[in-house]
Amino acid sequence: MVGIDFGKPLFTSEEIQRKVHELGVRISEDYADRDLLIVGVLKGALFFMSDLLRALRISVRMDFMHCTSSASKGQGRPVRILSDIKEDIQGKDILLVEDIMDSGVTIDFIKQTLVERGPASLKVCVLLDKVDRRQVEIEADYAGFRIPNKYVVGYGLDYRERYRNLPYIAVLPVEEKDQT
Ligand code: IMP
Ligand code: MG
Repeated sequence: MVGIDFGKPLFTSEEIQRKVHELGVRISEDYADRDLLIVGVLKGALFFMSDLLRALRISVRMDFMHCTSSASKGQGRPVRILSDIKEDIQGKDILLVEDIMDSGVTIDFIKQTLVERGPASLKVCVLLDKVDRRQVEIEADYAGFRIPNKYVVGYGLDYRERYRNLPYIAVLPVEEKDQT
């Protein structure tokens, strides 16, 4: 990206595509004879979701939920749903797709919210998993890469709404942090 040195990517575009493809194959097998509704969490899951869906070999439907993810930033603010899914999920198989699981608070909240609506099943798929940072007991059913406790950007992941459009995933350079 112009003017910023992100150094060596944590995951290149090719590595991401390979992993997304792997996940796509697994999910296609697991839901081969089911009617799956994939729910993407905006905005972070945008690119992951669009690549993952194209890696599937099964016919699925998709919907989106837009949520704030401030809960993990330590202020104890609750997760808020800015825009909800439109589908009635009662009795349906749901796969929640998110960019990253950090403390787990966001996914846990969304999961509980959706479970109350009575789906037949609800699983979680994340591209990145910061396992060491968990504050609530939750695990992803499908996780692309386990990553260390570093702040990462690109492929949908932002720092203050920037760098989502990087085609790879990189650790945010320290000098970019806390600059406006
Ligand atoms: P959690 O509720 O702590 O699991 O946080 C999840 C949300 O925090 C994600 O959906 C992201 O929006 C954001 N987040 C957590 N870690 C990172 C990161 O390293 N880069 C960019 N966003 C992150
Ligand atoms: Mg997010």
